[in-house]
Amino acid sequence: MKILVVGSGGREHALVWKLAQSAGVDNIFCAPGNAGTALLAENVEIKAGDLAALARFAKENRIDLTVIGPDDSLAVGIVDVFEGERLRVFGPSKTAARLESSKIFAKELMRAKRIPTARAAIFEKQEAAIAFLKESHFPIVIKADGLALGKGVIVAQEFEEARAAVDAMLSEGRFGEAGRRLLIEECLAGSECSLHALVDGKNFLMLASARDHKRAFDGDAGPNTGGMGAFSPANNFGAEAQAQFEGAVMRPLLDGLRESGVIFRGLLFPGLMITGDGPRVLEFNCRFGDPETQAILPRLKSDLVPLLEATIEGHLDHATIEWDKRPAVTVVMASGGYPGKYETAKTISGLERAASEDVQIFHAGTRRKNGQVITSGGRVLAVTALGETVAAARARAYEAVSKIDFENCHYRRDIALSAVGGKIVGH
Ligand code: AMP
Ligand code: GLY
Repeated sequence: MKILVVGSGGREHALVWKLAQSAGVDNIFCAPGNAGTALLAENVEIKAGDLAALARFAKENRIDLTVIGPDDSLAVGIVDVFEGERLRVFGPSKTAARLESSKIFAKELMRAKRIPTARAAIFEKQEAAIAFLKESHFPIVIKADGLALGKGVIVAQEFEEARAAVDAMLSEGRFGEAGRRLLIEECLAGSECSLHALVDGKNFLMLASARDHKRAFDGDAGPNTGGMGAFSPANNFGAEAQAQFEGAVMRPLLDGLRESGVIFRGLLFPGLMITGDGPRVLEFNCRFGDPETQAILPRLKSDLVPLLEATIEGHLDHATIEWDKRPAVTVVMASGGYPGKYETAKTISGLERAASEDVQIFHAGTRRKNGQVITSGGRVLAVTALGETVAAARARAYEAVSKIDFENCHYRRDIALSAVGGKIVGH
């Protein structure tokens, strides 16, 4: 069997790594990939957004299954293009991916099905949005309707900040089409949790839970990032919350999609806020999370290929899934300055020394040059360790991190600390 993975981040390296262990897989390709995927797969120089070239490659090379990593490829309809060419592909269609690519579509569906989420109002006129803000309590959340490279959600502490966000979207056009409409949403308090579910149109199968660390610095200080680390399972999501979530979110969501004539096949990743009143949906993502995937997949004992196939074919009701009971902790090593301006092309040392049986070094922004691995992005590596306890997994992950070095490397020291009862005070 030949598999193509589309994307170039830590998530895609983790997918390639897991798929490479599957008995039936002969060859894996990754487009465009990174220096880590090149160790297990053949990197193909096609960008994740070049749908026509990707489909042509899959056809010419008789790829049996393509797995899509990034949200923007899904949002522009890569799955529709592949299916149009009769190529087997894992991911939701453009219409189904609107759950992530239009926050208004998702909110309206949640409203219609009474799925617990933050109360929100929808605006496309600046005057009306500002008038609404004048009557609002703060903090409040402003969300661009469309995909905005992770910058479309602003948690505004006071009126001026909220007004600036509204102006940037509705009058200055700084978010382009994505910010032509927006949501103004109640700010929820609690702790966040990332869930992943395989969804085959009718049935769903939950993967292990995880928690992300979105802020750049220790103690959840600093700007939002794509995610500075993760651990699995989540320490704020037990059996009771799971049962509540399946009944109150997954079932009505699938019913709602079906009633709207939308068939969702792929990976659904709801981001939740666990509040005093139970779980609330913050957002739906339609692809594997990054860095959650790097913490979840090392715990998956089952072969991933049959699970992806069951999702595509609508047989998830017959699928089973087995997990390593041991927790996993993932620490992201980023370029200094990320998520702002950062330098690249720094030589990375210590990669071989840091890896071991229970430690996986997933590459994100890396490439190979003159026989060396160098940095090429903001998030550079995701170092995952398994351990008998979260404390053991943390210690093992940080020990591996300490062996790796590149100039101006930055990482958080408090990943999964909340799960071992510790707390670093912000700066
Ligand atoms: P994104 O993943 O870019 O959509 O960012 C969403 C992030 O914004 C979440 O992970 C939360 O940290 C925050 N967020 C979104 N909606 C709310 C809300 N209603 N209340 C509080 N925080 C929110
Ligand atoms: N780690 C959050 C995301 O992938 O959206």
